[in-house]
Amino acid sequence: MTAAALEVRGLNRNFGALKVTRDVDLTLERGARRALIGPNGAGKTTLVNLITGLLNPSSGKVVLGGQDITALSQAQRARRGIARTFQINQLFRGLTVLENLCLAVGERDGHCNNLWRATGARRVVIDEALDYLAALRIVDDALKLVRELPYGRQRLVEIAIALAQKPRVLLLDEPAAGVPSSETHLILDVVANLDPDIAILIIEHDMDVVFRFARKITVLVAGAIFTEGTPQEIMANEQVRAVYLGQEGHRVGGGVRHG
Ligand SMILES: Nc1ncnc2c1ncn2[C@@H]1O[C@H](COP(=O)(O)OP(=O)(O)O)[C@@H](O)[C@H]1O
Ligand SMILES: [Mg+2]
Repeated sequence: MTAAALEVRGLNRNFGALKVTRDVDLTLERGARRALIGPNGAGKTTLVNLITGLLNPSSGKVVLGGQDITALSQAQRARRGIARTFQINQLFRGLTVLENLCLAVGERDGHCNNLWRATGARRVVIDEALDYLAALRIVDDALKLVRELPYGRQRLVEIAIALAQKPRVLLLDEPAAGVPSSETHLILDVVANLDPDIAILIIEHDMDVVFRFARKITVLVAGAIFTEGTPQEIMANEQVRAVYLGQEGHRVGGGVRHG
């Protein structure tokens, strides 16, 4: 039997007296297409932070491909195949798109201590960087400074950087947040067409997107897993509708988007 891509077991995180993550168990199979939904403040981003190692849990463990990685740093986890995008975009805004990608490829291969020039000079790095830009259909932006790009395209660069890590597990925290609705399809098309072997967990408020993308949905409420199921099961769950789907901004088919 092969191990799941990612397993979270009995995860807890407290901030002082506040229990932000409560006994969370979560399994992502290889190639999973999972959505994590829940009201604002439910602890979705915190869970991603615990999985990636930005935060340490108060108790519980995170297992990647059968190996316990709970004690590893964020960088070590990234090297083993956990990539993420942030809710707030984190790029070198004064560098070009291609430079950002080359840095990501170089960092993955451990060339980064040779400084940027050494990394950037390697043709093979540039070619690979261009491949990711092509996959996300942003080659035309390669030589533009990130800060000159519209926000939606910056978010695509972020996804390209996450892919440059060659992840086994990709965590997308509201990848279309803050993007004008005329551009969200660019991001969601890309997400829909990612490598089927990568296990993907997406946090997304737009239920149309969630129901189209996810094969399974996990609902988080007040830090705990409320329920899990197929899109059809979640849609039919009266309690979910009451605690979550009925809320303003989270309507099914309503097309309402939060920033
Ligand atoms: N570093 C922190 N210190 C204290 N409280 C935090 C911290 N990070 C998040 N929280 C709290 O944890 C709860 C969950 O936050 P978050 O994970 O961002 O929720 P979500 O992403 O589902 O909106 C919120 O009540 C938030 O205020
Ligand atoms: Mg969040």
